[in-house]
Amino acid sequence: MRKKIAAGNWKMNATKEQALELFIQITEHYDQIWLNEQFQIILAVPHPYLDLLTDKSVDYPFLKIAAQNCHHKEYGAYTGEVSATMLASVGVSHVIIGHSERRMYFHETDALIAQKTDQVLGNGLTPIVCIGEPSEIRDDNSHLSYVLNQLKSGLFHLSAETFSKVIIAYEPVWAIGTGKNASMEQVEEMHTAIRNEITVQYGKEVADEISILYGGSCNAVNANDIFSCENVDGGLIGGASLKPNDFIQIVKILGA
Ligand code: PGA
Repeated sequence: MRKKIAAGNWKMNATKEQALELFIQITEHYDQIWLNEQFQIILAVPHPYLDLLTDKSVDYPFLKIAAQNCHHKEYGAYTGEVSATMLASVGVSHVIIGHSERRMYFHETDALIAQKTDQVLGNGLTPIVCIGEPSEIRDDNSHLSYVLNQLKSGLFHLSAETFSKVIIAYEPVWAIGTGKNASMEQVEEMHTAIRNEITVQYGKEVADEISILYGGSCNAVNANDIFSCENVDGGLIGGASLKPNDFIQIVKILGA
């Protein structure tokens, strides 16, 4: 089901106490935001706090807890890794897959991202799959084919039924953490291209069901413009999600 989603990506930030405080400050506003089945918050928190925060989130049915990554195998001798099965067992509902920081620093390829997505879906969880071009690709004007290729290579092996469970996040790498968000025209161009590509592969009915989020320096000031783009269904928010007032403001803008 196509939903409006405000997803916070805390990345490798916050101690346990800070994470708890952040969660409390966000949930203090829960009753005023009018979340529902079609309008949800997702918090992607560091692994050590998943169990704690999934427990706490039981009181907030439309606030979901996500992991920021998982391994591509179900179990085994992979010291330090965490599987989708483990995440499911502690009540996680979503997993970010293929964030550009993982592609960049941990050399994740589209093939690996496809396997991770399979693991997540196979465990009944929802993947939030990130795609987006680096600046040199944008400068080269090959951003559309680059991003659509990530989409196809990472996800188009899925059946239509399974694909319809995926959330996509378009995050231009040059916009992440830089304070330089993509313009409305750039966002709408890419989101429309992504939805069109899905239509070609899976048909309009499936394409209309997919939530496509924008990420990259989205904040309380530019959220209104970004969310007013027709094919934008919400945001994947990094830096601003660590500031509870800003994050709540963004959520309210999305819900307005
Ligand atoms: P940012 O990060 O909002 O700090 O740019 C977004 C992301 O990496 O998901």
